[in-house]
Amino acid sequence: MVTCLGINRLNQAQKSGFFEDISPRILVLGCPKPEALANFGFIDLVICHPEKSIIRKAQELGFQTILEGENFNKVKVLRSIGATFVWVTKSRRETFFNMAIALIATKKNGKIIITGGKKDGVEGALKKIKALIDPVNIISKSHGKIALFQRPQHLPKEVQVWKKMGKFQKTASGYFSVAGAFSETEIDKGSLLLADQFSGKLFGSVADLGSGWGYLSSEAIKNSPNIEFVTLIDSHFGALESARRNITSSKAQFLWADLQSETLNINNFDHVIMNPPFHIGRKVELGLGIAFLSVAKNILTKGGTLWMVYNQELPYEKTMNSLFTNYKFLNKTKTYNVIRAKKT
Ligand SMILES: C[S@@+](CC[C@H](N)C(=O)[O-])C[C@H]1O[C@@H](n2cnc3c(N)ncnc32)[C@H](O)[C@@H]1O
Repeated sequence: MVTCLGINRLNQAQKSGFFEDISPRILVLGCPKPEALANFGFIDLVICHPEKSIIRKAQELGFQTILEGENFNKVKVLRSIGATFVWVTKSRRETFFNMAIALIATKKNGKIIITGGKKDGVEGALKKIKALIDPVNIISKSHGKIALFQRPQHLPKEVQVWKKMGKFQKTASGYFSVAGAFSETEIDKGSLLLADQFSGKLFGSVADLGSGWGYLSSEAIKNSPNIEFVTLIDSHFGALESARRNITSSKAQFLWADLQSETLNINNFDHVIMNPPFHIGRKVELGLGIAFLSVAKNILTKGGTLWMVYNQELPYEKTMNSLFTNYKFLNKTKTYNVIRAKKT
């Protein structure tokens, strides 16, 4: 789940002296653009994020990286943190988990900075912090807030509760999921419609593009016994780790990859199933769905079938017409279109 950087807020914080006396090493949790931090002169950064493209970018810049979703108790680098930045994300559980990690990892009296937009819930997060820590210095800027405080000598007991929010958890639907993953607490309604359509009809090799925590693949393996294997691909590390917990069948294989920028060495699939993403943060990003469609076409075998659900407001028809001449609407609701397309 990618969030907004809020560069004006960071600039304002710098002018107000927030970044003075920040001692390395600096832990950065949830930041959507680690490259922007280099412009503030920060060195010795440790970037923690679940998204493949962000981790790759951070590594190219020479920063250390930690995957959000790793077992943090085993990550030694978290024991020498001088200061921590937390970006509030759309997932409340992910934000509280990241605030817990900031409080645990930062050395006593080290600085902690929390930044985020109002729409992402920064006010709620800071309200909890202010109830536990004093003083907290807050600046309001660009429809959001940035806060600075010292890591207290003794950690409030709430921190252990927040830390648990980052665990893989079984939701009411009976599947494991993780904070920050797509549809983190329930099965997506569009995916339910898609699974209804392909149930019992899949065979051979199947690719699940943007598999998330694995609902579509799980249904596919349960209801189509002629499947030989399913490759689940997602760029969100925690979502894919949840999928591993949801699908224990030996028919499943898992690939952590960014389908928009990586060329994958896989092909000849009999079926592709997908509910492609269309947002980066809060912004509609049509290019993502188009990239998924193009990958689907490339990895299908001749005569292979694409099964896709998408929000019917999205104008994918032009791309569909240029990539798949042979396709059919299987279901149309007020919100979703479900289509089946053949690679000819
Ligand atoms: C609409 S969700 C569907 C998830 C899952 N298939 C389901 O039905 O619940 C789209 C998924 O695409 C993943 N995703 C977004 N951008 C991606 C990218 N560039 N490469 C690979 N996966 C991506 C997201 O993490 C998310 O899990």
